[in-house]
Amino acid sequence: MADRKASLSFDQQTLEFPVLNATLGPDVIDIKSLGNAGVFAFDPGFYSTASCTSKITFIDGDKGVLLYRGYPIDQLAYHSDYMEVCYLLLNGELPDAQEKNAFIKEINQAHELPPKMLHLFKGFDQDAHPMSILIALVGALSAFDSKNPKDPAGRYQMAIELIAKIPTIAAMCYRHTQGLAFIPPRADLSYAENFLHMMFAEEADSPAPDPILARAMDRIFTLHADHEQNASTSTVRMAGSTGANPIACIAAGIAALWGPAHGGANEAALNMLHQIGSEDKVESYLERAKDPKDPFLLMGFGHRVYKNYDPRAKIMRETCHEVLDLVGAKEDPIFKLALHLEKIALEDSYFVEKKLYPNVDFYSGITQSALGIPSTMFTVIFALARTVGWASNWIEMISDPQQRLSRPRQLYTGEKERAVKPIAERA
Ligand code: CMC
Repeated sequence: MADRKASLSFDQQTLEFPVLNATLGPDVIDIKSLGNAGVFAFDPGFYSTASCTSKITFIDGDKGVLLYRGYPIDQLAYHSDYMEVCYLLLNGELPDAQEKNAFIKEINQAHELPPKMLHLFKGFDQDAHPMSILIALVGALSAFDSKNPKDPAGRYQMAIELIAKIPTIAAMCYRHTQGLAFIPPRADLSYAENFLHMMFAEEADSPAPDPILARAMDRIFTLHADHEQNASTSTVRMAGSTGANPIACIAAGIAALWGPAHGGANEAALNMLHQIGSEDKVESYLERAKDPKDPFLLMGFGHRVYKNYDPRAKIMRETCHEVLDLVGAKEDPIFKLALHLEKIALEDSYFVEKKLYPNVDFYSGITQSALGIPSTMFTVIFALARTVGWASNWIEMISDPQQRLSRPRQLYTGEKERAVKPIAERA
């Protein structure tokens, strides 16, 4: 079927384009040569445009399917852990026990930051948003990077360094904003335990965090590890297509993640719950969300790709309930309000007809809040978890012989060419 063609007719001409086969999901019409006919394709928001080929993650938004390297997200969430998922995303296969241990050892050896980076925190006010600090610190990390991105081993090492160091930076962002001294990483703890330890421990040798809470954190990481060509991953690929330093490209991805339409939704969802305030106000806020003239949206609901339940949301919802039970927060008014809102919105015809389901970030925000994490840290934690997805996509992009500079075209609707008048003649 390699010679399937699609044709496009306009202005008395018919153009033919090759159809590329996908292993799963929609095939793709290769319109690279369209510009030769003097026209471009127009698709703001990339509703129907594939920007690359990829073997990493597959989503079927109508069926609610998410596969990492072919493995369903629920099987990974229940039978695997974040370190295995990182290995899988980077290498294409799940590790055996020996490979997993070696991978964890490599990560554990790389948690420490270059000492000079610790001084950079002093440049930020205590009330700075942790995402601002994270973007700056990851950008700064590129100054200490000596890996050769042209060398495949150097690329892989860069990914290890990022997966290891971003939790350290993230925990320091939190402690800086709380006015607390930094807690150094500990190689004897699991990845999630070490992160919680660096965030919350009173002393460097405090007991390890509760394993159930660490497992919930590990699951949050696993569910956010990758999500194909979302806005931040596309940003990393686009910045990377210029040949820029890969760590700086990850900083660009973190900036793209911050927005409330993307990774900032978890923080926005919790802020929204506080704004709604009580169950009796839910109806009026739902009416606002449905009103096209009102900019208010139900944060944590809806998704560009999922027009069915987000499979991550199902798992995150379960973890959320486990954590709420464990920490005894089910009766907390804000969590009760969240569960009430979820129920009402799932029954409301507007949300049902538009297929607007709660997404992963609705539940991950509530879970993290129950874990004692302030809402300003939610997107930081999303970034930490997504680092492996960004790094895997960057490596795939830079290793692809078809890779070119990403440079979209436009539909120009501005002034036609005109002459500059002397200033005195401009009325
Ligand atoms: N509340 C109320 N109405 C909504 C919402 C919402 N959360 N989301 C979409 N709609 C409406 C929207 O107004 C539109 O209505 P109409 O057809 O009358 O114009 C319709 O549903 C389709 O929405 P859309 O804006 O065309 O869909 P999109 O694919 O551009 O938007 C989205 C996807 C995620 C930006 C949007 O659903 C949204 O802003 N949700 C809230 C923010 C959020 O939770 N984002 C996190 C996504 S999950 C994390 C991640 O993977 O990044």
